[in-house]
Amino acid sequence: MNVKMADLRGQYEMIAPEIDKAIRSVLEHAAFIRGREVDELESELADYLDVSHVLGVANGTDALQIAMMSLGIGPGDEIITSAFTVFATAEAGVLLDATPVFADIDSRTFNIDPECVEALITPRTKAIVPVHLFGQPADMAPIMEIARRHGLGVIEDNAQSIGAEYRGQKTGCIGDIGCLSFFPTKNLGCYGDGGAILTNDAALYKKARMVSNHGAERKYYNEIVGINSRLDTIQAAILKVKLQRLDTYQTRRQQVARVYDTLFDKHPFITTPHHAPDRTHVYHQYTLRISEESPGKRDGLAAHLKAHGIPHAIYYPVPLHNLPVFAEGGCRKGPLDETEKASREVLSLPIHPLLTAHEQQYISDKIMQYFDRVVSN
Ligand SMILES: Cc1ncc(COP(=O)(O)O)c(C=O)c1O
Repeated sequence: MNVKMADLRGQYEMIAPEIDKAIRSVLEHAAFIRGREVDELESELADYLDVSHVLGVANGTDALQIAMMSLGIGPGDEIITSAFTVFATAEAGVLLDATPVFADIDSRTFNIDPECVEALITPRTKAIVPVHLFGQPADMAPIMEIARRHGLGVIEDNAQSIGAEYRGQKTGCIGDIGCLSFFPTKNLGCYGDGGAILTNDAALYKKARMVSNHGAERKYYNEIVGINSRLDTIQAAILKVKLQRLDTYQTRRQQVARVYDTLFDKHPFITTPHHAPDRTHVYHQYTLRISEESPGKRDGLAAHLKAHGIPHAIYYPVPLHNLPVFAEGGCRKGPLDETEKASREVLSLPIHPLLTAHEQQYISDKIMQYFDRVVSN
């Protein structure tokens, strides 16, 4: 059986005529940089997310860097974030000579644990950067409360959770600035690189727009040193087509998750993803925990799946604080036990809108087979 982790080609084929038409239209009007589709996408995304301002940028990593530059983060500053995320979240701060300081995670949601944040705040702290990991929002209410009490900015790394809701509000629009990635495998992915910045703050939007445009509002009248980060018109045209279907894609992901939940229900060694009651989960990943105490360890299961041609992934095998670049320099100030444990126990299974129940049954059968074998040995 040819199971795919994320079926990009299959997803394209479902909407090929519309995508081809959208790309062709850009080729014909030839406004490849900031063509009308970029403006249209920004406004359609603003409506969808219920946020005042959206700015298309080149990728999610740039979005984070631009957000930090817009908040004035620079040399000597500290940002509090999670070590259980992609490198990009912390890298953006380091590029500005700031220091990422890692807070431990909530073992159930894999997101930053608000209870671990306050103890890490110093006079140098400028912002908290929660990452909405795997499709589920971080616990934003206490994060916002801590940030406001200490006068800190909040940048939401929303690369993995577009459209998810926390207490009725869409992620990325709760803090000061939200960052999106349109990397092809994201829930709303383009056919190359892309990203966006979200904010309800007009002054921050103006600053972000300037930063992303070489520090200029008016061409040739550069006011500050910025970067060059633009969303291609072709990618915007593709995203406009896919945005119309995003809710359908999310519903399908949620259905796929429910099927997995049932297949693994009450398994003694497998913990299925926790879904906190006050938020929606859009399942960018479906991530299991294989208890370290189980007779069949996570790495053994991964090897078994590989032997049977079932794609899977370990997000993330090395918590950021254990990478040599972050091992020194004050990135680690408190315990990170849950982060470390998660990195030893997680395993993400295929999830995408086209995954069939038949494929899921096959994946589950192979996983059950693995545990039956280790238990009987
Ligand atoms: C949580 C998170 N932050 C940031 C990024 C960076 O996005 P991009 O690859 O578009 O630069 C990603 C994408 O992998 C991500 O998953």
